[in-house]
Amino acid sequence: MSYCVVTGAAGFIGSHLCEALLAKGHTVCGVDAFIPYYPRPLKERNLQHFLDHPDFTFHELDLRTAPLEPLLTGADAVFHLAAMAGLMKSWSDFTLYSSCNAEATQRLLQAAKDTAIPHFLYISTSSVYGQEATGPEDTPLAPFSPYGITKLAGEQLCRAYTANFDLPVTILRCFSVYGPRQRPDMAYNIMIRSLLAGQPFVQYGDGEQTRSNTYCTDSVQAAVLAFEQRAVAVGETFNVGGGEIVSLNTVRSLLEELLDRKLQVDRRAPRPGDQKHTAANTEKIRRLLGYAPQTRVRDGLQAQIEWQRSCPS
Ligand SMILES: NC(=O)c1ccc[n+]([C@@H]2O[C@H](COP(=O)([O-])OP(=O)(O)OC[C@H]3O[C@@H](n4cnc5c(N)ncnc54)[C@H](O)[C@@H]3O)[C@@H](O)[C@H]2O)c1
Repeated sequence: MSYCVVTGAAGFIGSHLCEALLAKGHTVCGVDAFIPYYPRPLKERNLQHFLDHPDFTFHELDLRTAPLEPLLTGADAVFHLAAMAGLMKSWSDFTLYSSCNAEATQRLLQAAKDTAIPHFLYISTSSVYGQEATGPEDTPLAPFSPYGITKLAGEQLCRAYTANFDLPVTILRCFSVYGPRQRPDMAYNIMIRSLLAGQPFVQYGDGEQTRSNTYCTDSVQAAVLAFEQRAVAVGETFNVGGGEIVSLNTVRSLLEELLDRKLQVDRRAPRPGDQKHTAANTEKIRRLLGYAPQTRVRDGLQAQIEWQRSCPS
C-alpha cells in the first residue's frame, strides 16, 4: 500500500479523494489551510468523514509558507488539489489566486523534486481552455479568467519541473464537478439552496450555457486510476468529465422535477470570465486509463439534494 499526500484535503473534491484512497487501503496525509473563501466549519464537516481513520493524518498548513519537505519525505504520490477555486473572486483578489495557485504550486513542486516524489498529480481545470472547452487535450489554451490563468500557470510549472528535473507529473483537467460537499459558491449548490428555501435564484446569462458535469466520485476515480497506472499516466494530460452535457436550464428543470417545486429565476447579464460551453472530450482517459464515469446527472443531482437537505450550508 502507498503513502499519499493530498493537498486541499478539507475541500470538496479533496475530501472525496482522501476517502477513496483510504478505502483502497492507502495511508493518506491530508493538508489544508482552511482559506476562508467559504466558511471553515463546512470544510471541517468534510473532514469529519475520515478524520479518525487510523491511516489518515491531517496537517493544517499553508503551502505558500510552511516547510514542505518534511511533509513529502517518503511519499509515493502527491495529489495537488489545494487552490483558490471559483472564478468570480479571481477578478477582485488576484493576489490570493496567484499566490495559492501558482506560488504554492511552485513551492510544492520544488519540495517534490527535492524529495524525489515518484508521482505528482496536478488537478487542473477546463478553465485553462477558455470560453469554450470542447476539444481534446492538445487544443490551444486561452484561459478567459484570472482563475484559469493561474491554474494554467500551475500546469506550466509542472511541465517546467518535468522538462528540467524529470519530475513525474500527471495533469488532470476536471470539468464542473458536482455532488455532495459541492462548494457553496457553485451554481447547483445555490440553485438547490434557493429551491429548498423558496428564494429566487440569480441566473447569469440565458441559461443555455452547457456544462460537462462530473460527479464527485467520478472525478476522484480518474485521479485514482492515474495513480494506479503510473507508467501510463506519467507525462500525460487528461480531460476528466462526466458523460452527459446539459444546459443550466435543463438542470433547473431536473431539480424542479426532483423537488416538485418551481424555481423563481432572477435573470442577469453573463459575468466576465463565465464559460459558454464545456463538453469534456474524454476519449484519451477512457482509452489509456479505462476511465468510465458511473453517475448520471439525474442521480448525481438527487444525491446532492439529499446532502444539502441533511447538511444545510
Ligand atoms: N469544483 C470543480 O468543479 C472543479 C473543477 C475543475 C477543477 N477543480 C480544481 O479542483 C481543486 C479542488 O477544488 P474544490 O472545488 O474542491 O475547491 P475547495 O475550495 O473546496 O478546495 C480547495 C482547498 O484548498 C485549500 N487551499 C487553498 N489554498 C491553499 C494553500 N495555500 N495551502 C493549503 N491549502 C490551501 C482550501 O482551503 C480548500 O479547502 C482545485 O485545484 C480546483 O481548481 C475544481
